[in-house]
Amino acid sequence: MEVVIVDRPEQVMADIIAEAVSGGASTLGLATGSSPLATYTELIRRHREEGLSFAGVNAVLLDEYVGLPPTHPESYARFIRDNFTDHIDIGEVHSPDGMAPDSKVAAEAYDALIAQVGPVDVQILGIGSNGHIGFNEPSSSLTSRTRIKTLTEKTRQDNARFFDSFDEVPMHVITQGLGTICDAKRLALVATGEGKADAIAAAVEGPLAASCPASILQWHRHATVVIDPAAASKLADAEYYKYVYAHKP
Ligand code: F6R
Repeated sequence: MEVVIVDRPEQVMADIIAEAVSGGASTLGLATGSSPLATYTELIRRHREEGLSFAGVNAVLLDEYVGLPPTHPESYARFIRDNFTDHIDIGEVHSPDGMAPDSKVAAEAYDALIAQVGPVDVQILGIGSNGHIGFNEPSSSLTSRTRIKTLTEKTRQDNARFFDSFDEVPMHVITQGLGTICDAKRLALVATGEGKADAIAAAVEGPLAASCPASILQWHRHATVVIDPAAASKLADAEYYKYVYAHKP
């Protein structure tokens, strides 16, 4: 696992995506939430100003709230269109069906679809303050597939900032499982700010454990964690990671 500590994580993230797309990547895995927003803004800029093209690339989202239609302003299908995919020349963007009459069936169908359009070349990830990736909350099986999950109260509180009130934050989501996420050829996790420092320390330097789902990155063959100094502030070996990055062959 590579740990990159930089003042502008979005530049390194955008480099990873741009390099993959220019090198023939055909499927991107997209995260929503605040963490990748600066990366998406930078990729839109490169598309507009530098000719970075996403033609021939399709995308899959990590997760979706159960009960929100894709037109709802806080649905992740809408979020990704508004903040990224409507502004570039990408192909199809797939997301779990949060309105399906049977979420279990919809989750299994989404997992099968990812296998069909995949493998994902680069999966972008954020991290929850409790160590979740996608919406795999602590205690998620390390080999889980796409399924319906119940959000923790903490995650609902964290996400309440996007809704008018806490009560409006859905209780359930459909999320790619940790096993599904790990099918991607490369994982790139971005985190900024002190609020993510404990989760990053647990994910990078703690044990591989279901209590910190993001620790599954330690198990993946090609995982990169891109963080700012605040998010890195609780890493014991931060100086070593900087040294390794500075001398990258
Ligand atoms: C969103 C997702 C979540 C978020 C995480 C962090 O698609 O999968 O794991 O990445 O909750 O959210 P932010 O970035 O808003 O702090």
